[in-house]
Amino acid sequence: MSASKVAYESIENASLDELQALQLTRLRHTLKHVYTNSPVYRKKFDAHGVHPDDLIELGDLAKFPYTTKTDLRDNYPFGMNCVPMEQIVRIHASSGTTGKPTVVSYTREDIDIWSLLGARSIYAAGGRATDKVHVSYGYGLFTGGLGAHYGAERLGCAVIPMGGGQTAKQVQLIHDFDPEIIMVTPSYMLNIADEMDAQNIDTRKLSLRLGIFGAEPWTGSMREAIENRLGIDAVDIYGLSEIMGPGVAQECIEAKDGPTIWEDHFYPEIIDPESGEVLEDGKEGELVFTNLTKTGMPMIRYRTRDLSRLLPGTSRTMRRMDKITGRSDDMLIIRGVNVFPSQVEVQILAIESLSPHYLIEVSKDGNLDNICISVEPKIEMSVTAAQAVRNQLQHQVKSMIGVSCTIEMKAVGSLPRSEGKAKRVIDNR
Ligand code: DLL
Repeated sequence: MSASKVAYESIENASLDELQALQLTRLRHTLKHVYTNSPVYRKKFDAHGVHPDDLIELGDLAKFPYTTKTDLRDNYPFGMNCVPMEQIVRIHASSGTTGKPTVVSYTREDIDIWSLLGARSIYAAGGRATDKVHVSYGYGLFTGGLGAHYGAERLGCAVIPMGGGQTAKQVQLIHDFDPEIIMVTPSYMLNIADEMDAQNIDTRKLSLRLGIFGAEPWTGSMREAIENRLGIDAVDIYGLSEIMGPGVAQECIEAKDGPTIWEDHFYPEIIDPESGEVLEDGKEGELVFTNLTKTGMPMIRYRTRDLSRLLPGTSRTMRRMDKITGRSDDMLIIRGVNVFPSQVEVQILAIESLSPHYLIEVSKDGNLDNICISVEPKIEMSVTAAQAVRNQLQHQVKSMIGVSCTIEMKAVGSLPRSEGKAKRVIDNR
């Protein structure tokens, strides 16, 4: 069997009935597995008055309790595992903003499925076995580097395991090794592109054809900015450590209409983040995932905090998710107005002379919230021109988002650059 056949499985275009039948079988199995093998899940289900046998159809999942980051923290580091430690072959962790990291454990079978889904994702993104893949996601406890690496290798690509950092060297290797694909956070891609400019490299003459970007929110405007600057296709990859890592969902190159969720392995729901009520497809709310095939540490109804919508399948039978608007934890409330960094990003990128680097700082002046947006021009501009751009952005933010803000125009290259997940907001309140 050729490598490309391995990466495109018949389930991707199966009938909806076939997909749902598979989901039901796998869900029943997973619920039984966690109930039998995890004291934590058994206690949660018992306290909630539910038993795996109560799941007759997919909709019955709503009867089961949610799992949250707090459950993971309370059972740190390995208390949520559902198999004995001798069956675990890999451990990853994501650093939370506060306290202990979130730890996840994988069996050999879990790693195998993850690799397969990584390969499926890269294939759906337009990658082929003949491509070279430059991986600039960080290697280590973060799932980005190793997740991308195993997926690309499984597809049959030649992997360049560069990892994050050493930006000048990244550029040298991209120039010398001629990879067709880069996998990196969109914010680090911008940083690498700046370094290409600094090294006088004509980005459009590079071999790069495709960027598979994720691990942080990025808007459609950012896609356009990156595609135009580098002359590549930019597609979105989504994932989170708790559920697997990169490759939970992948945007298909033919449509570029939001990531397709690999629903044969992850069952998605959208809920109202306040009430916890399940919302119908198309409504915006918090994404919740249930693992259907993981054995080491499966999550049942894991609340991601990511805000999105479930959309009907287009390129595949499986449903898509809308590009993430932000995390509920990232939402800033400025004088009563809800503001997501992504909304600010769209306004900045609508101004041709501004670079896509920005920083949002929030402070309190007495009882009043102040928001200051720092931006950089693409090339140095006169004081008068800078003043005009500041006024324009201030006006756009006020009229489109509904908050008054101050704008700081920084010197070219002076805002902090990302080498992984960008930190867009400093909240000093
Ligand atoms: O960021 C896994 C990953 C690595 C995904 C590389 C894609 C590429 P965590 O560190 O656990 O795992 O962070 C997961 O990152 O809940 C989202 O808030 C955010 N995130 C991940 N992908 C996207 C995306 C990895 N495509 C958290 N768009 C998630 C927006 C994303 N946010």
